[in-house]
Amino acid sequence: RSEGPPPQMEFNGTKLVNDEDHPWQPAQEGDMRGPCPGLNTLASHGYLPRNGIATPEQIIIAVQEGFNMEYTTAQIVAYGGLIVDGNVVTNLLSIGGKSTLTGEDPPAPATAGGLNTHGPFEGDASITRGDAYFGDNHSFNETLFGELVEYSNRYGAGKYNYTVAGELRWRRFQDSVATNPEFSFLPPRYTAAYAEMVFPVNFFVDGRQTDGQLDLDVARGFFQHSQMPDDFHRADKPMSTEGIGNVIAAHSISPGRNINGVNTYTPDPTAANFTSDTTGCGFYQDFVNKTVIVLYPNPTGVLREALNRNLGYFYEALNPANCTQLFPYGTE
Ligand code: HEM
Ligand code: MG
Repeated sequence: RSEGPPPQMEFNGTKLVNDEDHPWQPAQEGDMRGPCPGLNTLASHGYLPRNGIATPEQIIIAVQEGFNMEYTTAQIVAYGGLIVDGNVVTNLLSIGGKSTLTGEDPPAPATAGGLNTHGPFEGDASITRGDAYFGDNHSFNETLFGELVEYSNRYGAGKYNYTVAGELRWRRFQDSVATNPEFSFLPPRYTAAYAEMVFPVNFFVDGRQTDGQLDLDVARGFFQHSQMPDDFHRADKPMSTEGIGNVIAAHSISPGRNINGVNTYTPDPTAANFTSDTTGCGFYQDFVNKTVIVLYPNPTGVLREALNRNLGYFYEALNPANCTQLFPYGTE
């Protein structure tokens, strides 16, 4: 069971993180790797259990230690991930596919299926992973990495940066509108899709480097091989979604989906977006009311307690301005 968020990391400057205690090792048969190159890399360097099954507390420690991810961001993503894709009773999350190691399954429609589960967290129009509609939403995709390279050459003089991120977000969106009849781009995926564009700049660029230009061989190491370059130093200060404003401003996309086959993208005016939802409160309400309640319509007993506890950690980390806490399963 969860003991709640671990304390914030004390030293938060840059340091060598590809060190002797955290050597890269390839994943072994049965080890879980998934759609997130950040967590995959932490597992392949032993910051997370190498089998890819972790508690949110282990994830919060690992993302701070290995990448200098800002503390509240780490908590929001780790508890959000556990709630939608993990087993809240055993407090275990697979960073890839379904695993028996996370324990007895919750009642359907929840699956505790791991981060590969399409829908609640993993979603369409990813950078280097295909849409679930095409059959594989979690493996490195060479064709898509080729788009990243093409765009880095065209807009970044051979490096991946915030400008490239803005153009590539638009390109990946257009690809999915035109080819995926089931394309969906609604929160929380909508929000995460912007954050994940800037993460490579904020976390995969060496902390001693201040120009925000990600080398493409380094990028491939993280995205494909879950591997830090030799001598890699983490970011020089706690980082989150810095630069996301550039990506949002580059091209305007409203949350929505293809409602009737390819090229039928239709905005959903009820979904939280960046212009209407400046407080983040709409994002929080959507998460609780549209994502969590749908997965867990009627939890009881220890499951209900575990959900309440983790929804509490999620809310406290998010701390949305002017937003009241929601208690879908009561308050005791
Ligand atoms: C993508 C979860 C932390 C970098 C994803 C996705 C998930 C996820 C579920 C798939 C979304 C999609 O593209 O469909 C998490 C969780 C974290 C975490 C639970 C816990 C704190 C990090 C960190 C980094 C990172 C620390 C960077 C060091 C990325 C990137 C993508 C991504 C770049 C996009 C991958 C792509 O589309 O090719 N993450 N993540 N994440 N994550 Fe993470
Ligand atoms: Mg995806």
